[in-house]
Amino acid sequence: MKRVVSGIRPTGFLHLGNYFGALRNFIKMQEENECFFFIADYHSLTTHPTPTDLQSNVRNILIEYIAAGLDPEKATIYVQSDVPQVCELSLLLSMNVYIGELQRVASFKEKVRRQPDNVNAGLLTYPVLMAADILLHHADMVPVGKDQEQHLEMTRDFAQRFNHIYKHEYFKLPVAYNFGSELVKIPGLDGSTKMSKSDNENSCIYLSDTPEVIRKKVMKAVSDSGPTEPGQPKTQAVENLFQLMKAVSTPETVHYFEDQYQNCAIRYGDMKKQLAADMTAFVQPVYERILELRDKDDYIRKVAREGAERARESAAKTIKEVREIIGIKSF
Ligand code: ADP
Ligand code: TRP
Repeated sequence: MKRVVSGIRPTGFLHLGNYFGALRNFIKMQEENECFFFIADYHSLTTHPTPTDLQSNVRNILIEYIAAGLDPEKATIYVQSDVPQVCELSLLLSMNVYIGELQRVASFKEKVRRQPDNVNAGLLTYPVLMAADILLHHADMVPVGKDQEQHLEMTRDFAQRFNHIYKHEYFKLPVAYNFGSELVKIPGLDGSTKMSKSDNENSCIYLSDTPEVIRKKVMKAVSDSGPTEPGQPKTQAVENLFQLMKAVSTPETVHYFEDQYQNCAIRYGDMKKQLAADMTAFVQPVYERILELRDKDDYIRKVAREGAERARESAAKTIKEVREIIGIKSF
C-alpha cells in the first residue's frame, strides 16, 4: 500500500482549481492508499491572517474536504498545527538547506513581488516546512496542482541530501501526482492561466458558490469578439472557457461548442450559459453537504481530533527515528 500526503492552506473557500488540482485526487486516492490529508494552517501564517479568520478558514476547509467526499474512515484528515512534530522535522531539515536555493524558488520570488513589505522568513523556508509535512509520513505520492511541482523537487532534494549526509536510506523520494494524467492547472474566468484566489476573487468558482453567483461570474467571464475564419487559434481567454468546460461538462458538450468555434458560429453567451449550468450541477451537491456539515460541530471536532491522533502517532515514530539517525539522544 502506498503512502499519500497532501495539504491545502486555509486561506479562504476552496475553488474549482483546488478541486481539480488537489481535492479530486485526494478523494480517488483514499480508496487504495494510506492517506494523510491536512489543512496547512502553519503555512497560511506567512500571509498573516487574523486569529478569527484563521480559525474559521480551518473549519471551512475541514467541512469542504468532507463535503467533497473525503472519508475520515478511509483517510487521516488533520490540522497541521495539531501535529507540531512537523516543526521539529522542518528545523532539522533546514540545517542542510541553503539560503541560495530557497531564494531561487519561483513561489518565493512571486511573493516578494506581490508583498514587498512582508518578506518574512516563513516565506523563505516555506518549502522546508512543506518537505517536512511530506517526509513526516514517508509519502510515496503527493497529489497537487502543477504550481507545486518545484516544491516537490525540493522535497526530493532535501530527502536525498539527508540520506546522503547520514549515510542512511531513510526517506523515500516522493513524487507529485495527478490521478491518471499530468499535473493540472485550471484557468481563471478572467483570462488568467490559473484560477487563484490570491490573484482575483472573480476568476474563481468556489465549491460554496450559489447557482446565482456562479451564473453571474461565468456570464462576466472574459472572452473575445469571436473567430472570423475557420481554424483560427483561440485567444487565451477563450481557451480558458474550453478548458473549464472540459473539467465540468460532458465530452459531447465540449465537442458541440468546439465545432461551433471551428465553424465561426459560436455564441459565447450560449457557451457561458451551458458552462454555468454544468458548473452548478457539479458544485450543487457539494454545496448542499457543506450547508449540512456547518451545523455538525461535534462531528467536525471529532474528525479533527481523531485525525490528529493518528497523524501524531505516525509523526512521533518518524521523529524518534530521525533523532536517532542525527545523533540526538536524551540522557
Ligand atoms: P490558491 O492559488 O488559490 O491560493 P492554493 O495555493 O491554496 O490555491 O492551492 C491548494 C492546492 O490546489 C494545491 O495543490 C494547488 O496546486 C492546487 N491548485 C490551486 N489552484 C489551482 C489551479 N488553478 N489548477 C490546479 N490546481 C490548483
Ligand atoms: N504548498 C501547498 C499549496 O500552496 C500546500 C502544502 C503545504 C502542501 N504542505 C504541503 C501540499 C504538503 C502538499 C504536501 O497549496
